[in-house]
Amino acid sequence: MRKNIVAGNWKMNNDLSQTETLITNLKKQTQTSTAEVMIAPTFTNLWPAFDALRQSNIEVIAQNMHFAENGAYTGEISAAMLKSIGVETVILGHSERRAYFNETDELLAKKVDAALANNMRVIFCFGEELADRKANNHENVVASQIKNALFHLDAAAFKNIVLAYEPVWAIGTGETASPEQAQDMHAFIRETLNNKYGAETANNVSILYGGSVKPANAKEIFSKPDVDGGLIGGAALKAEDFYAIVNAF
Ligand code: G3P
Repeated sequence: MRKNIVAGNWKMNNDLSQTETLITNLKKQTQTSTAEVMIAPTFTNLWPAFDALRQSNIEVIAQNMHFAENGAYTGEISAAMLKSIGVETVILGHSERRAYFNETDELLAKKVDAALANNMRVIFCFGEELADRKANNHENVVASQIKNALFHLDAAAFKNIVLAYEPVWAIGTGETASPEQAQDMHAFIRETLNNKYGAETANNVSILYGGSVKPANAKEIFSKPDVDGGLIGGAALKAEDFYAIVNAF
């Protein structure tokens, strides 16, 4: 079901003490929007965060997972392990995983399948590089990433999928996509879903924008008809900034 969502991707930030401090400050914030709110701490802080936020409306989600149920995968975490500590949603396909850990569309399709098989919700990330956009090839790149990793699924699977468009050139750079650029790509994504699965599926998928979303630009970006919220990096590490974005609807 299409909802407004703001998810904070903490990336590799905050040890246990810093996690506890940020969560204490998040709890002090007032939410004035009806958006679903999520935070994605690192693996070592998932349980402490989940335990600390039991009585709140903040969902604790994972930044990644392996596709295997278990086995000889040193350093990896399975869907079942995440579910066992109450984590029901996982971010997959982030550009940093694609770039630094060579995660391909094919590998991500396996991770998506494993998450769905464990009844998890997936926030699936994709987005073009600056060179793709400059070459006006950004729609082809995004369509390819979505089709290669998701279009083997049936329409029903999209009830558990949130899409996150994150132009790589906007991540961590301060070079936010304009609201018009975000809307144009989100509309293209929704049309791509519509052509494959029909209007009902396409209109019920939440499509988030990520890439230098800040309190100053969130309201205009979120006001666009095909933007259903944001996947937030740097601004998620400050409780006041994060809730200025949560409330920007
Ligand atoms: O996953 C969200 C992240 O990639 C965006 O980072 O710092 O540009 O908000 P940032």
